[in-house]
Amino acid sequence: MKIYPLTARPLTFAALALGSALLSFSVPGEAKELKLGIITPPQHVWTKAAHEFAERVESESDGDLSVALFPAGQLGDEPAMFAQMQSGLLDMGIMTAAITSQREPSVNGWFTPFLFDNVEDAIQATQTPAAEQMLDNLSDKGLHAFGYTFAGMRHILMRDQAVTSIDDLDHQKIRIIPISAMQTWWRATGAVPTPIQLPDVYQGLQNKMIDGVGIDLDALVGSGFDEVAQHLTLTNHMAFPAIAMVSSTTWDTLSENEREVVNHAMHEALNWANQAQVDAEADNLDYLEQHIDVRHLDDAKAQFAKANTAFDDKFSVLPLISQFQQQVADQHAEK
Ligand code: BEZ
Repeated sequence: MKIYPLTARPLTFAALALGSALLSFSVPGEAKELKLGIITPPQHVWTKAAHEFAERVESESDGDLSVALFPAGQLGDEPAMFAQMQSGLLDMGIMTAAITSQREPSVNGWFTPFLFDNVEDAIQATQTPAAEQMLDNLSDKGLHAFGYTFAGMRHILMRDQAVTSIDDLDHQKIRIIPISAMQTWWRATGAVPTPIQLPDVYQGLQNKMIDGVGIDLDALVGSGFDEVAQHLTLTNHMAFPAIAMVSSTTWDTLSENEREVVNHAMHEALNWANQAQVDAEADNLDYLEQHIDVRHLDDAKAQFAKANTAFDDKFSVLPLISQFQQQVADQHAEK
C-alpha cells in the first residue's frame, strides 16, 4: 500500500503535483495499482476503512493488486475527485453521500431529517431495496458502487450559546455542506446557511465568520472544534453516509477474480468501519460530556417541523426517496 503524504491544505498545486503519481501505468509482472481518494483526515474512520480495504486487497490478491491511498482531500475537493474518476485519472473513492447526491438526486433520501434515531438505524437502512437502487443508479454515471459507510449522526455545535429551541437559530450563521438538501432544511430553520469547507470550519468559528456548525461527533472531536465552540446540542437531525465506489472504466479492466477480491475486501472494510463508527459515537460523546456543554433537544423533530416540511416539499416527492422513507419506517415498525 502506498499512502501519499499529507499537505496542510488541499491545494490545487498539491493536486497537480500528485497528477504524476496518478498517471502511473501498470507494468506487466508488477502489481496492478488502484488509486483511491478520500476527503477525510487520517484519524477519521472512513480513512481507516480505506486502509483496511487496501490491506485486504493486497493480501487477498497475493500481491497482484495494490492500492495507493490519497487521504485528506489531497486530490482536491470531492467534485474534483469525481471528475478524476470520470476521466480515468482516479480509480476509486469513498465519497460523501452529500456530494454524490449532486450526481444521483435520490441519494438525498439519506438526508431526510429525523429519519434515524442513531447510526445503527442508518446502517440497517442500507439493506432496503431503495438504498440498493440508489447505488445501482450510479452505474449510468460511470460509477460502480460497493456500499455505504457512516460518519456519526449530525448535531449542532455553537460558539456563543446553546440551542435550547429553534428560536436560538434565528439569523445565526451555520456552516453547511453546499448541497440543496442541507441548504433547504437549514434556511427554513431561520438560520443563515453558510457553505464552507470542513478544513475552514475551525478558523471560521474562531474568527466569527460562522456562529455554529451542523456536524457529526467524529469530525467535531477529530478536528478539535470543541476548542473554539463549546455548546453542543444533540439533535440527531440527519445521518451522514459515504459511498465506496470505483469508476466503471477501471472496473471493466479488472478480471473476474480481481473483481471478486476488490468486492470482498471493500465489503469487509465497510462492515468493519460501520461497527467502528457505532463504537466511536459512544466514545466521542463520553469525551465531549467531560469537556464542553452538551445537552439534548428532546422534542427536536417537532421544533424543526417547518424545516422538515421544506425538505419534504422538495425531496420526498422523488419516488425513490419516498420509497426509501417508507421502507425505513417499515424497518422501525418491525422492531
Ligand atoms: C463535513 O464536511 O461535514 C464532513 C465531511 C466528511 C466527513 C465528515 C464530515
